[in-house]
Amino acid sequence: MKTITLHDVSYEVFTENGCFRKASTNKILHRISAQFTPGLNAIFGPTGGGKSTLLDVISGRKPRSMLTGQVLIDGKKPPKNLQCMVGYVVQDDFLTGTLTVRENLMFSANLRLPTSISREDKRKKINHLLVDLGLGSCADSLVGSLLSRGISGGERKRTAIGMELSIDPSVLILDEPTTGLDATTARSVMTLLQSLSTKGKTVICSVHQARRDILNMIDNLVLLAGGRAVFHGSVEEALQHFEQCGFHCDTSCNPADFFLDVLHGEAGPIKMKTEIGKTIGYGDELVTSFSAKKRHSPN
Ligand SMILES: Nc1ncnc2c1ncn2[C@@H]1O[C@H](COP(=O)(O)OP(=O)(O)OP(=O)(O)O)[C@@H](O)[C@H]1O
Ligand SMILES: [Mg+2]
Repeated sequence: MKTITLHDVSYEVFTENGCFRKASTNKILHRISAQFTPGLNAIFGPTGGGKSTLLDVISGRKPRSMLTGQVLIDGKKPPKNLQCMVGYVVQDDFLTGTLTVRENLMFSANLRLPTSISREDKRKKINHLLVDLGLGSCADSLVGSLLSRGISGGERKRTAIGMELSIDPSVLILDEPTTGLDATTARSVMTLLQSLSTKGKTVICSVHQARRDILNMIDNLVLLAGGRAVFHGSVEEALQHFEQCGFHCDTSCNPADFFLDVLHGEAGPIKMKTEIGKTIGYGDELVTSFSAKKRHSPN
């Protein structure tokens, strides 16, 4: 299980509006098509853009009744137990503060690995993971909570990643693994994810902000704004695409900041006209130009 393909995926939720609580639906993802292959895949975009929702959809955590389009795993319909096969590090990690780092990892392994694997083998696996994740020095420290201090933010993130790696998933999904970390710690987490991706795992993470060297690690980028895929490809291709659309990224500017400026409508030409002459928002305009480009591309 390695390649995840999305064809025209839309997702909506039921909402209740006004004092009469009239039920209506709210579309959160709009016709997203993208492919995630082994390597480091990043979903990038402003807050509220739909990143977490898209990751939930990919990992099979959204009701199928509210989904349209197709999510395919290696070209086939996802298996019923997809959630058990994909590692998912959520935005706010669920670690047990009163256990040590090692105990948290062991807890995950005991809960999720088959009982046919002996306790000793699980222990060995966790010992290897602790070394690979650079958690050796804090393995027996309490994780801690809001009220009692424990390990650092970067170590927490690595522990949360380790809990998912304990089942050795071929697909690892992470919702904002670098948010709240300083730039150096964020890079070390991304370096870890890159090294996992070079071992053949399909790593998909959402990112808010990224320094230049983090962007350089990304093999495949999906830019999301307003629940729409504004771009899908490499970072260099994204820069070329936006240049063609009239959005120039100055060499002194970090492309990650530039992408956010474009998606927020803070960069480039102030108003653009559609083919039919109607002025529309940046997001819509960029989606239109990207879809048109895909239609004309030989691939
Ligand atoms: N169950 C829901 N009911 C109503 N609105 C929802 C629901 N889930 C998501 N949304 C809305 O959909 C939009 C996308 O939410 P999502 O959490 O996917 O964004 P995000 O890109 O992950 O944002 P952030 O960067 O802040 O985490 C938001 O406007 C959010 O309010
Ligand atoms: Mg989110």
